[in-house]
Amino acid sequence: MLADFQASEIVGERASIALGITGGIAAYKAAELVRLLVGAGHTVYPIMTKWAAEFVAPLTFQTLSGQPVRMATAGFGRDGDIEHISLIRRCELLLVAPLTANTMAKMAQGLADNFLTSTYLAHRGQTMVCPAMNTAMLEHPATRRNMAQLEADGVHVVLGDSGDLACGEVGAGRMAEPAAILDQVRWVLAPKLPFLEGKRVLVSAGPTQEDVDPVRFLTNRSSGKMGVAVAAAFRDAGAEVELVHGPVQVAVPARIKTRRVRSAADMADVVLSRQPDVDIIVMAAAVADFRPRPSKEKLKKAKFDGALHLDRTQDILATLGQRKPDGQCLVGFAAETGSVLENAARKIRDKNLDFIFANDVAAAGLGFAGDRNRLIALNRHGVQHDLGTRDKAALARELVAYVVHELQHELQSN
Ligand code: CTP
Repeated sequence: MLADFQASEIVGERASIALGITGGIAAYKAAELVRLLVGAGHTVYPIMTKWAAEFVAPLTFQTLSGQPVRMATAGFGRDGDIEHISLIRRCELLLVAPLTANTMAKMAQGLADNFLTSTYLAHRGQTMVCPAMNTAMLEHPATRRNMAQLEADGVHVVLGDSGDLACGEVGAGRMAEPAAILDQVRWVLAPKLPFLEGKRVLVSAGPTQEDVDPVRFLTNRSSGKMGVAVAAAFRDAGAEVELVHGPVQVAVPARIKTRRVRSAADMADVVLSRQPDVDIIVMAAAVADFRPRPSKEKLKKAKFDGALHLDRTQDILATLGQRKPDGQCLVGFAAETGSVLENAARKIRDKNLDFIFANDVAAAGLGFAGDRNRLIALNRHGVQHDLGTRDKAALARELVAYVVHELQHELQSN
């Protein structure tokens, strides 16, 4: 029998990360990366190659990380320990950003000619690399071969989007943005929940837009932050995640299948068609309840009488509830401005849900656009659990832990 769910059951985020910086112009972006990693609670141990120090002074990384910068060759520390080995034993992750074609080749071959490459060879844990180079260098068969070798050796390779390069060309080869790297670090480090292995989770997020005419639409204040955080938290915990989202104001995380939609009708089409193939559905989207009858022509103010006729949209969650196959878990949200728990309890019954997460969108600083939220979980039996007031990423992790805990509990009591 599982104990009652306790908030903060999931392991915290703090990790020790060795960050290798090699000699490319993208080394300046590694400074921002250190800031983000430290801000997320990690301890960062910078390791620079000689060429990296030509681009950015080691003092920058020392100041941002609060740790001495290791460079050049591996050697003995003050206590006589072999420094690269004692350093990497402390670390859960070796991250190399930027990774040049040269160091990539050394890593693929297993050369250990400086502190960073020696550290890589001495590392038994996870390694993530973020290549940065000119497009031709990236596409060269030798680089392709080396990259494939690293992947075969279990290294996570994170590539950036195409864009302007320092050499004046436009194409692939840019280092991934620091925020995108942080997102992938989260995924690598997060403890995986065995229950979610092989489970498919569909999450909806963000507002919908309902056209009034070719230039105007009705929408709502949802930013999509909560739903996107839920999708990322399920991904981090080991599920296969699909995200169906309206026009959100946040970056969509990597390693998630995404479908962008605009209107409630588009969202209904995608979500309902995916229902038979998934194990868990979380409707975090703020779906419009009404839509205007759109005019093909732009409404002209001289002719418009000020009246908009609105029709009800389909309630996607209620439809999912009517069609729910055995064993599927259906999760809703209830955004309320009063009688929060009464309304949430009614929605869980009316829409045939397993869980609902209620939030008071009228509370100051919480809810729609903000970074923090408060959620109260409610199950079918009317049992409530306050997941607390936290930033949305932390709250999403609690939500995942809660759902998994409850589903496991149900399985064990059947
Ligand atoms: N929802 C949906 N389709 C809609 C409207 C809402 O799937 N057309 C889902 C939302 O994604 C959310 C849940 O239903 O998970 C509750 O949404 P909410 O706006 O709080 O409530 P409504 O059902 O719209 O009811 P009310 O207007 O009475 O608050």
